[in-house]
Amino acid sequence: MIADYHSTYQFSLTDPKHFWLDAAEAIDWTKKPETAFDPALGVYGRWFSDGALNACANLLDRHVAGGRGEQAALIYDSPVTGVKRTYSYEELLREVARFAAILSDLGVGRGDRVVIYMPMVPEAVIGMLASARLGAIHSVVFGGFAANELAKRIDDARPKVILTASCGIEPTRKVAYKPLLDQAMAMASHAPDAVILLQRPELEAEMTPGRDHDWASLVLAADGRSAPCAEMEATDPLYILYTSGTTGAPKGVVRDTGGYLVALAWTMGAVYGVKPGETFFCASDIGWVVGHSYIVYAPLLIGATTILYEGKPVATPDAGALWRVMEEHKAVALFTAPTAIRAVKKEDSKGDKLAGRDLSHFRALYLAGERADPATIQWAADLLKVPVIDNCWQTETGWPIVANPVGLGALPFKPGSPTVPMPGYDVRVLDDAGHETPVGMLGNIVIRLPLPPGCLPTLWNDEARFRKSYLDGFPGFYQTSDAGFIDEDGYVFFMARTDDIINVAGHRLSTGGMEEAIAAHPDVAECAVVGVADALKGQTPVGFVVLKSGVSRDGAEIGREIVALVRDRIGPVAAFRETLTVARLPKTRSGKILRGTIQKIADGEDWTMPATIEDAAVLDEIGEALKGRGTT
Ligand code: COA
Ligand code: AMP
Repeated sequence: MIADYHSTYQFSLTDPKHFWLDAAEAIDWTKKPETAFDPALGVYGRWFSDGALNACANLLDRHVAGGRGEQAALIYDSPVTGVKRTYSYEELLREVARFAAILSDLGVGRGDRVVIYMPMVPEAVIGMLASARLGAIHSVVFGGFAANELAKRIDDARPKVILTASCGIEPTRKVAYKPLLDQAMAMASHAPDAVILLQRPELEAEMTPGRDHDWASLVLAADGRSAPCAEMEATDPLYILYTSGTTGAPKGVVRDTGGYLVALAWTMGAVYGVKPGETFFCASDIGWVVGHSYIVYAPLLIGATTILYEGKPVATPDAGALWRVMEEHKAVALFTAPTAIRAVKKEDSKGDKLAGRDLSHFRALYLAGERADPATIQWAADLLKVPVIDNCWQTETGWPIVANPVGLGALPFKPGSPTVPMPGYDVRVLDDAGHETPVGMLGNIVIRLPLPPGCLPTLWNDEARFRKSYLDGFPGFYQTSDAGFIDEDGYVFFMARTDDIINVAGHRLSTGGMEEAIAAHPDVAECAVVGVADALKGQTPVGFVVLKSGVSRDGAEIGREIVALVRDRIGPVAAFRETLTVARLPKTRSGKILRGTIQKIADGEDWTMPATIEDAAVLDEIGEALKGRGTT
């Protein structure tokens, strides 16, 4: 048994076939794979192409069969409703198998899509796993997106059924999901066969006759029924998860079944150090990849207990919320975004809310989703007295590219780095011409192909975009679109995105998408959105707007309209609150807006005058506009 990081990593690169076939032993296959990787299949090859399995069987059935039936599988803890409920593996299996029968009655089967637009309630997880049980492909859409974004995802995924709830509950308001879904369906050209609506007592919704089914009534009528697990090929899609691209059109990241489960099973022990029977608290949202992998799939896959937390790190009711959940459910690890810790630190900088809590089970805090600033890591480590472990990955990869593998013996911590590449990820840094950069020099972070199991094989409906976005830039490599460097000890540092993606409170957003929304305002001639550094959210979007000539209306009023427009088109999650009116935007002579330079000026960073700038004076005007920065 190989037990240290360096030899494990080397093994994964020199003998990937044996490394991953060994890892595949952790999974129950209906047909065990003999081929680890087939380079002739798919765009860059496929993992476990001759294997067959069912994801839901691996998450639920096998644990019940193996004696974990009475163990807690999922603990729903909802401070926003006051409800707490524990589902044992046996109960969760019963609920999932019954809901699979309901979906099957509605015609859902292998390869059909099921869109899930729901808050953090157990029924959402039940919907995901019931889809997986039938071999249907789920696509969860985060609740903070507006109807327009939901419509784009409906049109791309073309679901047979949509699952939704009457409302979500934010600390200051109820979010009526159903009207948003109705609006989205009015905008979309695709119509599902059916909608299943979970009525929540906090805010009930109108049903559309002939289309909408009441969740509770269907469940009641299906009492005692269950649908069997469909045998799926390892390469069959398990889910599609849409993520922001550089334009307003989201990218449908496809996740396969076999490779994903193999990779996740490996990470639970080696990266997160969690054992079957222990409780893992991932305080993310099932609308994001972290939630898919570490709220739903990985903990249940290994027979651990997962916590589904419908609340925030602060305000539900206070900055002690995460510590309360950790104590109450005896969780061994917490996984969240750095923003959540910054929010707690802002409210409770001395950590008073931790006083008196018994966190003796707590072994490590994991952070991902955005750059973890060393000050936040240090604050959390001092307060919690457990290792704080940064890990970096993307929706596309589904599991960490770079992490500190505690299960293999944690490596020394270096501020600013999520540590070292995980097995199967041959991480390199290339200059723009595709040459490897010297140690310590900033460049494009890429991963030599093939990507390890679990990473995206393609984009839904769009192989050409997959190639263009990720593979064409540096032939033979996957382009992360992150800039960074590798130091002399092999530690990887992620510094910034190289494209128009920004990261606001751990949420990945497209500035291009926001610009498309702003451009729809009748008074706007052109605009640029950049992500400006923010002490709480990491980055916050700021819109620089040039008005059409002749517009004489009050700029502040136009600003407010633009803010409302972005909220309406993209959703509250964009957290777009600020526009600055400028006379011109800085551009290169070929007309490209110099967003990177604007951002550096806004952040007060050093910047150099771009050699290709059309008119250098425009940058002074941007600097002047920024002096008057304030929320419009
Ligand atoms: N459904 C509907 N609306 C949502 C939502 C959801 N699931 N999640 C967020 N929103 C809304 C918020 O209510 C807010 O609306 P508002 O403009 O009316 O106030 C808006 O989207 C922006 O939300 P957010 O950026 O999260 O800011 P916040 O001030 O509400 O909360 C934090 C700040 C730090 C508490 C919060 O961002 C947080 O918990 N971050 C952790 C992020 C995380 O877990 N990311 C997952 C990746 S690992
Ligand atoms: P998402 O697809 O939403 O997970 O966002 C992926 C992007 O978030 C990455 O390409 C990085 O830019 C950023 N990111 C995620 N985790 C980290 C991290 N630990 N450190 C630095 N950047 C991160």
